[in-house]
Amino acid sequence: MWLRTLILLTLAISAFGQAMLNRNGERIVDTVRGEIYDEWDDCKNARAEIVFIIDGSRSIPQIDFNKQITFLKSFVDHFEIGKNGMRFGAVTFGDKIIKDNTFGLTQYASKDQLKNGISNIDFKPDDGDSTETYLAIKYAHGIIFKDARPDIKKIAIVITDGQSTAPNKTAEQAMKMRKEGILIFAIGVGKDVSEEELHTITGRNDYVFMVDKYSLLKTVRTELRKLTCNSDKVHQMVACLHLSDEEFREKQGCRGMVDINFVFDSSVMGYEDTRNITTFIKKSVTDEYLDNKKVLFGMITGKCQALKDFYLNTYQTRTEIMKHLDIFHKTSIVSLLQKVKNVSTMTKYGARNRARKVAVIFLKGKLSEPQGVITNAKVLSKNGIEVFVIKMDDLNSENTLTSITRQRNILDATEIKSMVQLSSEFLNRLCKR
Ligand SMILES: *[C@@H]1O[C@H](CO)[C@@H](O)[C@H](O)[C@H]1NC(C)=O
Ligand SMILES: *[C@@H]1O[C@H](CO)[C@@H](O)[C@H](O)[C@H]1NC(C)=O
Ligand SMILES: *[C@@H]1O[C@H](CO)[C@@H](O)[C@H](O)[C@H]1NC(C)=O
Repeated sequence: MWLRTLILLTLAISAFGQAMLNRNGERIVDTVRGEIYDEWDDCKNARAEIVFIIDGSRSIPQIDFNKQITFLKSFVDHFEIGKNGMRFGAVTFGDKIIKDNTFGLTQYASKDQLKNGISNIDFKPDDGDSTETYLAIKYAHGIIFKDARPDIKKIAIVITDGQSTAPNKTAEQAMKMRKEGILIFAIGVGKDVSEEELHTITGRNDYVFMVDKYSLLKTVRTELRKLTCNSDKVHQMVACLHLSDEEFREKQGCRGMVDINFVFDSSVMGYEDTRNITTFIKKSVTDEYLDNKKVLFGMITGKCQALKDFYLNTYQTRTEIMKHLDIFHKTSIVSLLQKVKNVSTMTKYGARNRARKVAVIFLKGKLSEPQGVITNAKVLSKNGIEVFVIKMDDLNSENTLTSITRQRNILDATEIKSMVQLSSEFLNRLCKR
């Protein structure tokens, strides 16, 4: 059973990488792989409640058991374990829940304890004839996830090599769990698996990974060795968790805590646009969905970049004078974006750990340093801050804007009649209403 789990975990991890490729388009994937997840350190930021639902209705030789334990321990080693990081649970089932091989999210509060707990898992060679998957899903949902931290994504990974004995009950339990925002992935191994049933369990075809057991078994040894040393696969897993984060947030809409910062360079806005922006902010703040203590607002405008004096003897050429005057027309949003990161993440600015973090950036004028803006926007998204852009004119290219944030998060003030309407559109997208 554990060997099978090990293979499945290996596959799960690489399969998730593919799901990431398939699901959300190249740009996000590039960001994820190229910039966000290069460093092992990034594993430290992953926060999720993960429960493995393991079909233990058949047995495997004990021979690979220790390797499995070693693997699981090295797998969890890459994460921060505990209430500020990742927490793992496991349910093993056959015709009933196998309590000895089942543990909850709070059972192991530190990495050492978790690894120790994994070491203590006993080998159970035969756990019955039937595959009561629904029991395990119900257990994960009703008992294990009950201990989940609020506002942290919950993921169940169902691993099976057969069909459940009661598919309707399984489908029903899975749907109940999904309805509460718990993502379910499923991994099916071998020819006895019903792919169709796994689709029913996950609710999405791309969350199902089918694996041919026999071809796999041939490569088990290599896989084992690779797995212990190869960080790539775990990277993909981490990347996947971050992507799920986005999905999680969208599911949450504005029901959880949200910290929103409005960002604009007041020096380039001028009177009318500043007034338009304040209209937008006022409308957003008083909106029914946001008008409660769960949502906090901030505003970052920078210092007004007043023109400095120059004297009769300061400049000799027209170019110099133009350069001096240009300061007033250039947006210098980079320094504001640098500030957004601190303001959105540090408690001294009122940022809340578990809140969904949002920055709404108003852009006017051609960006003098587009690359700097793009780089800083990526830093924000790396830190879990969702970036919205409100374009106040047409001076920046589509390419620049879509490098700052995804298309869905870009709103065009030039195409809309009133800021009231634009604010309403913003809230629709933010809150999924
Ligand atoms: C299971 O669900 C299907 C589709 O909803 C239904 O046609 C079938 O009768 C159900 N079977 C049982 C045993 O309830
Ligand atoms: C952000 O906070 C760090 C740590 O306190 C500080 O060193 C840095 O200067 C801050 N950056 C900005 C732009 O305020
Ligand atoms: C911004 O303000 C000006 C002047 O008050 C107004 O004409 C314009 O329509 C406003 N733009 C939007 C999008 O509301």
